Amino acid sequence: MAKVSVGSVGSEKRKRGQRKRGQRDLPALVYLAGVVTVLSLTLNGVLFFRFHSLYRSSAPCGGAAPAEASDVGNAAAAFLLTSLWRGGNGSDGAKGVCLEEDEHVKASPGGARQQIGGSTVDCDSIVINLDHGDPTMYERFWRAMEDQATIVVAGSQTMSYFSRAGSLCWFMEPRLEQEIVRLHRVVGNAQTDGWHVVVGTGSTQLFQAALYALSPPETEEPISVVSAAPYYSSYPSVTDFLRSGLYRWAGDVHAFKFKNDAPYIELVCSPNNPDGFLKEAVLNGEKGWTIHDLAYYWPQYTPITAAAAHDIMLFTFSKITGHAGTRIGWALVKDRAVAEKMTKFIELNTIGVSKDSQLRAAQILGAVSDGYELGGRARFFDYGRRLMAERWQLLQEAARSSGNFSLPHFPSANCSFTGEMTQLLPGNLIPLDFQYRALHFCSAHRWDVECAI
Ligand SMILES: Cc1ncc(COP(=O)(O)O)c(C=O)c1O
Repeated sequence: MAKVSVGSVGSEKRKRGQRKRGQRDLPALVYLAGVVTVLSLTLNGVLFFRFHSLYRSSAPCGGAAPAEASDVGNAAAAFLLTSLWRGGNGSDGAKGVCLEEDEHVKASPGGARQQIGGSTVDCDSIVINLDHGDPTMYERFWRAMEDQATIVVAGSQTMSYFSRAGSLCWFMEPRLEQEIVRLHRVVGNAQTDGWHVVVGTGSTQLFQAALYALSPPETEEPISVVSAAPYYSSYPSVTDFLRSGLYRWAGDVHAFKFKNDAPYIELVCSPNNPDGFLKEAVLNGEKGWTIHDLAYYWPQYTPITAAAAHDIMLFTFSKITGHAGTRIGWALVKDRAVAEKMTKFIELNTIGVSKDSQLRAAQILGAVSDGYELGGRARFFDYGRRLMAERWQLLQEAARSSGNFSLPHFPSANCSFTGEMTQLLPGNLIPLDFQYRALHFCSAHRWDVECAI
């Protein structure tokens, strides 16, 4: 106890001394705290003004991930577009303010920050993400078409696994098949008479189903899968993802050591992702199969020059109308046995394809066909073509002004759908994402949906 009391007297003295020193040092401490606060605020302010536009500029793209390179992308995953930026429209495209080039230059000498509509834009910091695309560019059109493109699925609907028990593709909704066949007839881009329609969860699933269906079941060596470079970057990764013993990615068709007796699968993407050009099969060997990926063979991207009639043709809802999230694709397959095997793959993989999605796709495809067959409001391909033409032009300007990029010249041809000479307008530019993403940043839709209808 005594020790404690001596100790407490000593510590009381120390505390008194400290209090006196503290009172003496108080102004200095207050001064120091003030200096630290001012410095911290200044630093935060500088950082905020320097970098906030980067975050803001990634936001308008429909919530898609900001610039972050992945193995899907090209080596140059992003570049800074320094001199051309039009508008501030988000994925809805509704709030965009269009500045003409000279207005932009006047308003923003040297690309300085400026007020556009309700937002401030740092023209030095517009990042274009080349990594991946998201075809939300058609959202505005579909918002204007809501009365025709909306379905309601009641709680009691679409409950069964089956759509047409007993038919080849037993999980395919008859209404979707009808609308697919109808749309191909309206556009004239593929033959359907004599082809089996197989629906898939996006054409990505159908691509895998086709690999499975075309691979010889009894083989020591996996069948080689090739495509002419530059090819769609998902082909190798999807092919080799599960290290299948049935098939194996073998790279560029031009480097492929082709043996006449060895089977192979050649993927032909036309118009091609990523370079946008029309392609044909290279090998044409006796034991080979070709899968034609015709994701972009639609009138907003390319002149329709013939009704395609290949053994296996893949189409995707995502690139026709922009409804990538609905995850619907289809294959037109000539050979019944191959169509059956593809159906089997989908049965074992996902036990069919979402009926809700199929009905939605049927409704939207139907609205597109109505626009041309019944004189409906939704002349979607007209809209898409004008949008793509505008974006292509903006992209050319952007590439030109960057000084570091050039874009190819695409040929024109007579389009049987429009009845006009039309230019190929790549929906899948180098790479695909460049276009979609760049134009989210660069383009305010200068003309309205109403212009197309
Ligand atoms: C050539 C090509 N095929 C297929 C796909 C994927 O289609 P889906 O969304 O139907 O899986 C894409 C997507 O970018 C593509 O560019």
